Amino acid sequence: MYQAPRGTTDILPHDQAYWRYVEKEVVNICRLYGYQRIDTPVFEDAGLFVRSIGEETDIVEKETYSFRDRSGDLLTLRPEGTAPVCRAYLEHGMHNLPQPVRLYYITPLFRYERPQAGRYRQHWQFGFEGLGSSDPALDAEVINMACGLYRHLGLRDMVLKLNSIGCRNCRPQYLKSLREYYSRKVHLLCADCKRRLERNALRLLDCKEESCFPLTEQAPKSSEYLCTECKGHFDFLKKYLVILGLEFDLDHRLVRGLDYYTKTVFEIYPPGEKGAQSTVGGGGRYDNLIEEIGGQPTPAVGFATGMERMILNLKRQNISAPTLPQPTAFVAFLGQEAKDKAVAYAAQMRREGISVILASGNRSLKAQLRHANGLGAACAIIIGEEELREGMIVWRDMVKGEQQRLSFEDALSLVRSRESGGES
Ligand code: HAM
Repeated sequence: MYQAPRGTTDILPHDQAYWRYVEKEVVNICRLYGYQRIDTPVFEDAGLFVRSIGEETDIVEKETYSFRDRSGDLLTLRPEGTAPVCRAYLEHGMHNLPQPVRLYYITPLFRYERPQAGRYRQHWQFGFEGLGSSDPALDAEVINMACGLYRHLGLRDMVLKLNSIGCRNCRPQYLKSLREYYSRKVHLLCADCKRRLERNALRLLDCKEESCFPLTEQAPKSSEYLCTECKGHFDFLKKYLVILGLEFDLDHRLVRGLDYYTKTVFEIYPPGEKGAQSTVGGGGRYDNLIEEIGGQPTPAVGFATGMERMILNLKRQNISAPTLPQPTAFVAFLGQEAKDKAVAYAAQMRREGISVILASGNRSLKAQLRHANGLGAACAIIIGEEELREGMIVWRDMVKGEQQRLSFEDALSLVRSRESGGES
């Protein structure tokens, strides 16, 4: 027996109500803020992700699904959505459009991670990017939009964490202090962090190992090393967040797991949780990314949130999704001649836009009606031998369990009123 590959899940019909609910709110929030949908390929040139996410990150070092295709090109299944959007922005000359360009995506991503609750090897993300503006008001907009989405979904008490990790000008000085601090504690570091100390010191703050985590408490804070421009940007952002009425916790350990960030970084957690695995969404500014993949310097900021993690938290907070529409009518029949009629009636109803399930096989009427009940059909049209002889049908209200003999035309007007949400 084959099974879904480890770390992947099937989204079964009974779970679709949650997915459609979240998608509907996503589309609604994007409409409110004027973000337009973009879809990029599932795989990209492997180099795009190495250049953008960073060679020394867990994602690129350990988690990408990369392969050579038949012509020998090295490709990677998309592990995140920001770099592909930047690639498309450049490739299609979107810098010529009025800036910032606001884009969003809902897309599956692939990371070879250790699967556990809320962590998959294929997961879905809703992400949005504002490209072509350095205005801190755009950072505030992105954060407000993220918080707004969770609020619209009904999620309560989400915690917003915020930090600024500076830019090319001020970060080197900060990294120097960080390295000096950790060099004095090198004997306490895990093997990964010993390596990070040499190659990517910012990542030291991100380590969740028990031996390393306490050291982050006393580590130098990036916010204390910001240059005038970065500090000004951060102060404006905080001011806008206050104007928007958004509460936030400043967290100097927040650096994010991808290397492209500059200045603003933020993450959103469900109430009472801290670990990286529980993050519902995260984002930040990435002012150098477009330049690093071959474009002109183009400031940008964005955010992404896991669809599965949103749904997990909806369930944890006992928030149910609106039920999806059920079929309006079920057509049941007895015998071949009645079946011929049923096929024609079902087709006629569908031509009128009525959702219809036609019974299949040659089961007893009782079994067919049980099926109709299970599907949640509002009404049934039953064609028995007697009805066939008299040119009538039996119309059954599946909710009340009442039935009457009618002409098909009369039944059709009743069904029509059901389709439009009427009582009878
Ligand atoms: P990220 O923090 O790597 O950021 O992922 C964003 C969100 O995707 C996480 O907060 C989490 O909800 C979800 N997620 C990540 N990995 C998994 C997984 N293995 N299983 C389930 N859910 C997961 C980014 O990817 C950036 N591109 C976000 C961004 C957009 N920054 C700027 N613009």
